[in-house]
Amino acid sequence: MKVLANDGISASGVQKLEQGGFEVLTTKVAQEQLVNFINENNVNALLVRSATEVRKELIDACTSLQLIGRGGVGMDNIDVAHAKSKGIHVINTPAASSESVAELVFAHLFSGVRYLHDSNRNMPLEGDSKFKQLKKSYGGGSELRGKTIGIIGFGRIGQATAKIALGIGMKVLFTDSNIKELDLSLDFYNGQSLTFHLKSNSLDDVLKHSDFLTLHVPAQKEYIIGAQEFSKMKDGVGIINASRGGTVDEVALVDALETGKVAFAGLDVYESEPNPEIKILMHPKISLTPHIGAATNEAQDRIGLELADQIIELLQ
Ligand SMILES: NC(=O)c1ccc[n+]([C@@H]2O[C@H](COP(=O)([O-])OP(=O)(O)OC[C@H]3O[C@@H](n4cnc5c(N)ncnc54)[C@H](O)[C@@H]3O)[C@@H](O)[C@H]2O)c1
Repeated sequence: MKVLANDGISASGVQKLEQGGFEVLTTKVAQEQLVNFINENNVNALLVRSATEVRKELIDACTSLQLIGRGGVGMDNIDVAHAKSKGIHVINTPAASSESVAELVFAHLFSGVRYLHDSNRNMPLEGDSKFKQLKKSYGGGSELRGKTIGIIGFGRIGQATAKIALGIGMKVLFTDSNIKELDLSLDFYNGQSLTFHLKSNSLDDVLKHSDFLTLHVPAQKEYIIGAQEFSKMKDGVGIINASRGGTVDEVALVDALETGKVAFAGLDVYESEPNPEIKILMHPKISLTPHIGAATNEAQDRIGLELADQIIELLQ
């Protein structure tokens, strides 16, 4: 049995598959040569991330394919229903990167409350000549402990974010279109565990009572946060978006940053990805990352192992 990991797979995933008797090809085959490559090599399982497209034409042309796997969550690049209608297994690894995304949210939050994003831009330019002025500019930050975080979308990543928040002493509010209440268990390194019972709130209440907001919803047809929602927030709120571009209206965000309604934003995702607006990229109050929420070594390891486990179970 042959597996083609066209967008890469962790070494641990390759090892596990090989132990299970699979041959793993890690050649990066160009999209237009993919059909030929799969047919010539009799590939049984095609693994992708977000780069490779697995459309109907490819599925129809490659009769050896028994499984399509997506390392990660979103399957927008795969014609899932069509593949399934032909009896092909389609799998993904939705849980593998939740903790990585949650930690990135806190990287942006800690950065925002102490102005690290801006300080890191100006220290290389003026740190030797204007040290005292910069010290004054970037003093007066604040702590996260004791503050309220509002989590919009309380699935896997929202809950992983809540656990970190509770761990550092924050109060957690959440809103979710499906989840009304749940028990969230925090597991510590020494085997201790603490369970918090949390109840959902209306979006309006979350907006009104949170010091910081973070979004963890899937792609939406309409903005969840626009001008009206910004107007309901506390003055000086911090907002993080590591969910999907298009959930926050970026024009309204820049307006809210200019008026001081929003003190800072942390963005991992953008409306016009992969060419974010220059106004967003250049804004001194925005901490920026290029959609790297899931991109930690640990998550990639878990993704590889989770794919390998599922392939072994389904195809061996
Ligand atoms: N930044 C990154 O690199 C990265 C990595 C992985 C996932 N993501 C994104 O993170 C998001 C969340 O992922 P997840 O694994 O937690 O998904 P999930 O399905 O576990 O959770 C999403 C939650 O949002 C809720 N929801 C949906 N629409 C809503 C709305 N309009 N208002 C309130 N709640 C709503 C759902 O009920 C669900 O509980 C997805 O958009 C995913 O694409 C980003």
